[in-house]
Amino acid sequence: MDAREMKVKAAQAALAYVEDGMRLGIGTGSTADEFVRLLAEKVHEGFKVEGVPTSERTARLCVELGVPLRSLDELPELDLTIDGADEVDANLTLIKGGGGALLREKIVAAASSRMIVIADESKLVGMLGAYPLPIEINPFGQTATQIAIEKAASRLGLSGELKLRKSGADVFTTDGGHYIFDASFGRIPDADALSAELNFIPGVVEHGLFIHMASLAIIAGEAGARTLEA
Ligand code: A5P
Repeated sequence: MDAREMKVKAAQAALAYVEDGMRLGIGTGSTADEFVRLLAEKVHEGFKVEGVPTSERTARLCVELGVPLRSLDELPELDLTIDGADEVDANLTLIKGGGGALLREKIVAAASSRMIVIADESKLVGMLGAYPLPIEINPFGQTATQIAIEKAASRLGLSGELKLRKSGADVFTTDGGHYIFDASFGRIPDADALSAELNFIPGVVEHGLFIHMASLAIIAGEAGARTLEA
């Protein structure tokens, strides 16, 4: 089974948690895209859901495939969000934001009664941090913000390169008009402490550590999909 087939398996398993009439947060990324494709098939069979997308990219795919969408302001309380992740640990703490949608993903997940993560087994890690942590920043004063992040990390004994994300020759800009630093801190032994430090920095809009947000992870591997609970 290749990685794409595993993503489809995880997305298929997630569909079992989606009930008729649900208000659904819809994640971003290649795994979430597989979920949208399967959800669209159910919608065409008569299944009723209203989706709130976590990115313009996901919104476009939903529109293309006929999944009904609402804005988060129209549906500020959601039943369930299904989203992918870049890393998942045994406590279901996540690194997200590889696709650049972390801010909307976190807002949507926080507005949901439940968040389920879908991933192939390559995302499951013993300790977070091999995947660079996306940190979304306001473009104003980006160097000052970079210095503040480096100092905050060093207070926790972390160091590493902060790379401003690019899209070709241009700086990558999020749906909210912000920039992203991808922070290669290496292992992150205390995600709570790092999250608290980053949240304290004015130029940091959001970061990709999702703590106590997901209650279930569906991890697909060669042997099929299995679930991990928080
Ligand atoms: C989007 O910003 C991310 O949080 C994605 O959820 C994450 O990058 C997973 O993407 P894939 O499913 O493509 O690996």
